[in-house]
Amino acid sequence: MAVSAESLSPPMFSPMEWFDPLLAQWRQGPLASWATQLQPLLSAKLVQQPHGDWARWQQAWQSLPQVAAQVDASQDTLLVHADQPLTPAQQQQAREALWGLRPWRKGPFQILDTFIDTEWRSDWKWQRVAPHIADLTGRKVLDVGCGSGYHCWRMWGAGAAEVIGIDPSLLFLLQFQAVKHYAPTAPVHLLPVRMEDVPPQLEYFDTTFSMGVLYHRRDPLEHIQQLLGTLVPGGELVLETLVVEGDENTLLMPEDRYAMMRNVWFLPSVPMLLRWLRRLGVADARVVDVTATRCEEQRSTEWMPFQSLADFLDPEDASKTIEGYPAPLRATFCIRKR
Ligand SMILES: C[S@@+](CC[C@H](N)C(=O)[O-])C[C@H]1O[C@@H](n2cnc3c(N)ncnc32)[C@H](O)[C@@H]1O
Repeated sequence: MAVSAESLSPPMFSPMEWFDPLLAQWRQGPLASWATQLQPLLSAKLVQQPHGDWARWQQAWQSLPQVAAQVDASQDTLLVHADQPLTPAQQQQAREALWGLRPWRKGPFQILDTFIDTEWRSDWKWQRVAPHIADLTGRKVLDVGCGSGYHCWRMWGAGAAEVIGIDPSLLFLLQFQAVKHYAPTAPVHLLPVRMEDVPPQLEYFDTTFSMGVLYHRRDPLEHIQQLLGTLVPGGELVLETLVVEGDENTLLMPEDRYAMMRNVWFLPSVPMLLRWLRRLGVADARVVDVTATRCEEQRSTEWMPFQSLADFLDPEDASKTIEGYPAPLRATFCIRKR
């Protein structure tokens, strides 16, 4: 039988295909105006002005084996397990595709036969947060700054009816899609947009998470207000951020970098952050966890071979960052919207 040249070339793929069904669904309901705004935004980001590495990442993603598989989000390692054993060639193909999406920061994942030991043990954060939040069963959830979407999958595994993650990083989008490839109908979505691109006063979600984002915001109070605007009345905001020890008058603004991170603005004490919340009219806020980040939780691995927390601390005194600030301490707040 003759085979046309066209049928030998790789299938044409447009990344908008990831979003078209969701946007079509949203156009029929309360998120219609957001869907209208997203269409040109996503198209500009993914089709018209792709990132320099986009073609390479997309090629890696497209070379994932086409096999039937299930996603299990009930365990610390996010599992994608194939219905049938993979051939050695398929195993190699999957590993090479996932390797092409390095660095992997948030996880861990087991995708088919490949275990991805990510820089962060994001499961540890989830263990600290999950016991304290309102039951996610049947809830609509937003995860702002969701990274690779590891926690989005865990939220779905905890019973959420719909999970929307937003994160501007296109590499994280491809890493998310490496899992979504095997669970295309799961109501879990990652949109490569910023919090600033979410319409104000959406009042749609039952739970909104902002974990590891507040200190990157130049106006953290505005960020909290925007987050509260995404929630229905009575909804829950789960806010996790870097803090410093101290009283209600303590706030650290680093001169430049903090633990080698650029773009870090404000690290309040827990009482200071509670004061911010009171000033914003929040009456119901609980501090549910305060934990120092250990080098076992954030470290270099073969999947993230660059510098990590151990390199960002003072080699003589691990209670300080390399710049001399207090070492990373993270707090989680559960906040109920009136
Ligand atoms: C420290 S990571 C936290 C990831 C994850 N939430 C966690 O807790 O492990 C911060 C994430 O926020 C994203 N981010 C930064 N600015 C953002 C913004 N304006 N809107 C949404 N996400 C943002 C970054 O791309 C990054 O993935």
